[in-house]
Amino acid sequence: MLMSREVRLKSRPATLPTMADFELATVALDDPDEGEVQVQNLWMSVDPYMRGRMVDRPSYVPPFELAQPLQGAAVGKVVASRHPRFKEGDIVRTMLGWREAFNASAGVIQKIELGSLPPQAFLSIAGGPGLAAYVGLLKIAELKPGDVVFVSAASGAVGSLVCQIAKIKGHTVIGSTGGADKCRYLEELGVDHVIDYQTTRDIAAALRAAAPNGIDVYFDNVGGAHLEAAIDAARPFARIALCGMIAQYNGEPSEGPRNILLAVAKRLTLKGFVINDHLAQLAELASEVSGWIAAGRLKSRETVAEGIDRAPEAFLRLFSGDKIGKMLVKLV
Ligand SMILES: NC(=O)c1ccc[n+]([C@@H]2O[C@H](COP(=O)([O-])OP(=O)(O)OC[C@H]3O[C@@H](n4cnc5c(N)ncnc54)[C@H](OP(=O)(O)O)[C@@H]3O)[C@@H](O)[C@H]2O)c1
Repeated sequence: MLMSREVRLKSRPATLPTMADFELATVALDDPDEGEVQVQNLWMSVDPYMRGRMVDRPSYVPPFELAQPLQGAAVGKVVASRHPRFKEGDIVRTMLGWREAFNASAGVIQKIELGSLPPQAFLSIAGGPGLAAYVGLLKIAELKPGDVVFVSAASGAVGSLVCQIAKIKGHTVIGSTGGADKCRYLEELGVDHVIDYQTTRDIAAALRAAAPNGIDVYFDNVGGAHLEAAIDAARPFARIALCGMIAQYNGEPSEGPRNILLAVAKRLTLKGFVINDHLAQLAELASEVSGWIAAGRLKSRETVAEGIDRAPEAFLRLFSGDKIGKMLVKLV
């Protein structure tokens, strides 16, 4: 019998979640049944979209249940298998994070070939955030030669990859982030103009100064004042990929965009997307990022919290911004 600690949702937060909204529990796992696999999680991801799942409302993913373990992307190692497709030692990806170990039917477990990448890369550059950056920039925003690209939450998991892919493809990139360390990180990545939204009172003015001839693509991770600034600076026929709007995930009042009417005259395209519709491109993504890393063209930065008991705190750091790059929890 294997003991596993897991994090459960104790209450549904109405505003910014607190540690009191989570509880830690311990469960005993029997040996896996026929057709099941037992997995020990090595790494788990905390992601902003999980905040939406804490609210009891219909969406593209069902809400988390109270008093049940949360769920999310995790990479683990098979420790026992009663399914022919898996053997002990296989590295697998599932959506059964927020727990140290579990038994599950083989159908919800995906074997991954690490290649040259470390396991946790499959939760960042070669996982959901990587896919959001890759698909959002190349397919949704339809990046074209010569485009000037603006990215918000640019030092984060998705944003830092958007910036780097755009630089690899030869574009001028403007990135917005909060705080001096993160601004320095963006400079290290080769971002051409960095906006510190925490010290810049007027994001629209800062963006116009950085891109006097306007922007062609905005990759939106934040919404509100950032989206309004992007619409203001957009050239005719600019494309805006709506990846996320984290500034409104905790019930904050909307800060705009108050200038949406400009989208008509400028003939803008604003297009939302969700990675679940693009999972078929995960293999292509892993191959691309492996190549870029091997060529020294792509960096992956992580902020790591250790231990399942630190997972709620790691999640809250997505909203305080107290981290650089991908926020991860190391479980073993
Ligand atoms: N559409 C999809 O399928 C999909 C998939 C993955 C992610 N996403 C979205 O992509 C965005 C980025 O996700 P991620 O995983 O890469 O997270 P992340 O950027 O690594 O972490 C969240 C960052 O959001 C910024 N932030 C938080 N509150 C903010 C506020 N009020 N105003 C401005 N910035 C704020 C902070 O940036 P600073 O550190 O710069 O302060 C924080 O570091 C999120 O909106 C997420 O929901 C969408």
